[in-house]
Amino acid sequence: MDLGLNDKVVFVAAASKGLGRAIAEEFGREGAKVVMCSRDEAAISKAAREIAEATKAETLPIVADLSKKEDCERFITTGLEKFGRLDVLVVNAGGPPPGRFEELDEAAWDKAYQLTLMSAVRLTKQALPELRKTKGNVVFSTSTSVRQPTQYLNLILSNAIRAAVHGMLKTLSKDLAKDGIRVNAVQPGRIATDRLIQLDTDTAKRTGRTAEEVRREYETSGMIPLGRYGDPKEYAAAVVFIASQRASYITGVSLQVDGGMLQAMF
Ligand SMILES: NC(=O)c1ccc[n+]([C@@H]2O[C@H](COP(=O)([O-])OP(=O)(O)OC[C@H]3O[C@@H](n4cnc5c(N)ncnc54)[C@H](OP(=O)(O)O)[C@@H]3O)[C@@H](O)[C@H]2O)c1
Repeated sequence: MDLGLNDKVVFVAAASKGLGRAIAEEFGREGAKVVMCSRDEAAISKAAREIAEATKAETLPIVADLSKKEDCERFITTGLEKFGRLDVLVVNAGGPPPGRFEELDEAAWDKAYQLTLMSAVRLTKQALPELRKTKGNVVFSTSTSVRQPTQYLNLILSNAIRAAVHGMLKTLSKDLAKDGIRVNAVQPGRIATDRLIQLDTDTAKRTGRTAEEVRREYETSGMIPLGRYGDPKEYAAAVVFIASQRASYITGVSLQVDGGMLQAMF
């Protein structure tokens, strides 16, 4: 199936490793030009170089801290200076830290709000004039926690703030449809990245186990019906499809990629 992404310009936020990196690489394989950012110059440059080598795609690494307004804006403007257009924006960022309600002060809430909600607002706002020109689309990479909050993971910051991202994106999908712009979400659940090692280590400490034991429980207890953590490439394939021309009649949806973990009907 030709996804129609050849020579499209795709911006992938938070892409030096994990889900963002896998998404950037998959777009590169489809012939897209990829603008990618993270805070660590060495890490994002290495990721961009490796993707360019592996896929022959043109990549542009940008150093940006997505919790800062000016960095969100610069990520988009610098990419536009280089490639002159924006067809797809993938909104992604680092995850808020684990913690229970009484362990988190106002500064922690404010930080998570800036990183998770305001980065989504700012990136979308900056990209919008270009999306109107290209009739492009936005994919918000969020979390299965918007459908089923994960109390056992101590992720109240993520549970609370990602819900706001979904309220925004669902509203935007209606508002922007008249301009030919699609807006969708993809929700990862238990995809094997460093973030999961961080979360499993936190759960392990709280429950007197090792991170490996925590992972084994997920994989063998039926919590994940497919019986394993996902590969970032499996997640990236879903994001790339939903951003592609072949998904041209899909907007306002939220697709979970979680090995069947969510219990809800939809
Ligand atoms: N993996 C899963 O199954 C899963 C499930 C639910 C939700 N999520 C969410 O999906 C997102 C990505 O997760 P992941 O698994 O890919 O995590 P990861 O492997 O830890 O990667 C996080 C990426 O975000 C970048 N980053 C972090 N903070 C940033 C900031 N302030 N500005 C710019 N870039 C930043 C990191 O690069 P630098 O350190 O170089 O900045 C890195 O490239 C997170 O929000 C996570 O909570 C993941």
